[in-house]
Amino acid sequence: MTTRAATLVARTSSVGETQDLAAALADLAQAGDLVVLAGDLGAGKTAFVQGFSRGLGVTEPVTSPTFTLAQQYAGRLTVHHLDVYRLDQLGEVAELGLSELLDDGGVVLIEWGDAILPVLPNDYLEVRLTFTAGPQSADDDRRILLRPVGERWLRRQVSLLHAVAPWAEAPADRPEGTPPAGGAPC
Ligand SMILES: Nc1ncnc2c1ncn2[C@@H]1O[C@H](COP(=O)(O)OP(=O)(O)OP(=O)(O)O)[C@@H](O)[C@H]1O
Ligand SMILES: [Mg+2]
Repeated sequence: MTTRAATLVARTSSVGETQDLAAALADLAQAGDLVVLAGDLGAGKTAFVQGFSRGLGVTEPVTSPTFTLAQQYAGRLTVHHLDVYRLDQLGEVAELGLSELLDDGGVVLIEWGDAILPVLPNDYLEVRLTFTAGPQSADDDRRILLRPVGERWLRRQVSLLHAVAPWAEAPADRPEGTPPAGGAPC
């Protein structure tokens, strides 16, 4: 059974802010963690991985793994950065050796991971980056929804809430019907 927790909602207004938020979340990272990154082209998935890696002490430049599918970076925990955008078939995921990556003591971040949920474990943090729309929004504004799925991340829900607090979306920013940061279960 999958355990679901509340979705936290944050807002950033620059790539640097998204990276800082990701770096703050990286402080909570544990060996074997999986982060599923969702969001349209250019939403900021790679930027998030860059910040998360920096938070884990990675010093080399983190680039998009679109053509290599997977890249590794050494940090406090090894960062495995995958991008499955180009995978045509779920079967190809087997070639990524995902369970070995998750078992090897590092963390795994998968861009477009929401496209391969059927082959992923039920324990992950979903990070969904969206462009914000409306007259008040600038091109660099993003909403970032953080959804812990499964026991591993559910246990860290309070820490997650604290980590994203500086970027928590103010109630006035929130379209009707969306959950508050750290608020209502969904
Ligand atoms: N608030 C923001 N957060 C993240 N990126 C931002 C923000 N504002 C502007 N940007 C810009 O948006 C772009 C995000 O690019 P990035 O490669 O991270 O997106 P992506 O989701 O990984 O795209 P793709 O689907 O092609 O892999 C960058 O050019 C970045 O500078
Ligand atoms: Mg990318």
